[in-house]
Amino acid sequence: MLTVPEAIQKRRSTRSFKQVPIPDEMILEMLEAARLAPSGSNSQPWRFVVVTDAEEKKELRRLCFDQAFVEEAGVVFVFCTDLSAYSGKTRRTRMQEMIDTGVFADRDLNDSRTQRYTEMPDEPDPAFYLPMATANTYIAVEHIVLMATALGLGSCWVGGISDHKAVRDMLGIPRGIMVLGLVAVGYTDNEPKARPRLPLEEILLRPFPMSEDDK
Ligand SMILES: Cc1cc2nc3c(=O)[nH]c(=O)nc-3n(C[C@H](O)[C@H](O)[C@H](O)COP(=O)(O)O)c2cc1C
Repeated sequence: MLTVPEAIQKRRSTRSFKQVPIPDEMILEMLEAARLAPSGSNSQPWRFVVVTDAEEKKELRRLCFDQAFVEEAGVVFVFCTDLSAYSGKTRRTRMQEMIDTGVFADRDLNDSRTQRYTEMPDEPDPAFYLPMATANTYIAVEHIVLMATALGLGSCWVGGISDHKAVRDMLGIPRGIMVLGLVAVGYTDNEPKARPRLPLEEILLRPFPMSEDDK
């Protein structure tokens, strides 16, 4: 098993897979990596459908602009987000857990510092919460990807879905749970070259380390 730095270095988007099934134990390890991801206020809005069935993968390929590797993958994780994670009721439960586990040991649910989290309507406004729910879900998805790499598997994110509703209908995903994308995972011989990345200077908004003159 690779270390975290090794998995970060080695990961590539892999778009060609061997037709070999992935053992359930590995799929469960990737799901466990997702489950352990951090999220704002421990909201955990991520939801998944695990697809290994050949016919379902074929249909997913069709619904993802015919990207062939979706069908070839040993397993496809369809990742979704559940806005009910942001309802007042759920927020109160999460906040109570944080109080109980000592994160906010000095508070209770009626504390003025806690109320802004817990006094939420029970029907969260999607326009406000969707960006947050999406960001939190993506963290869990990257945990799947890095765990796949650590297990010696290839993977590729798939945001390119042509018909999200068709994916939902096909997999029986309940209304209110939004399909965001897929991750295709499988055994691969393919070792793609590293894609270029912006240099550090371009992603830093001020130099680091700072010179004495910049301080
Ligand atoms: C949110 C997201 C959506 C993506 N969607 C697709 C996709 O639909 N098809 C595809 O081939 N690659 C997709 N990719 C992979 C990117 O093209 C890839 O990560 C990027 O080119 C950098 O290459 P690397 O992952 O090999 O480092 C997606 C990646 C992310 C993070």
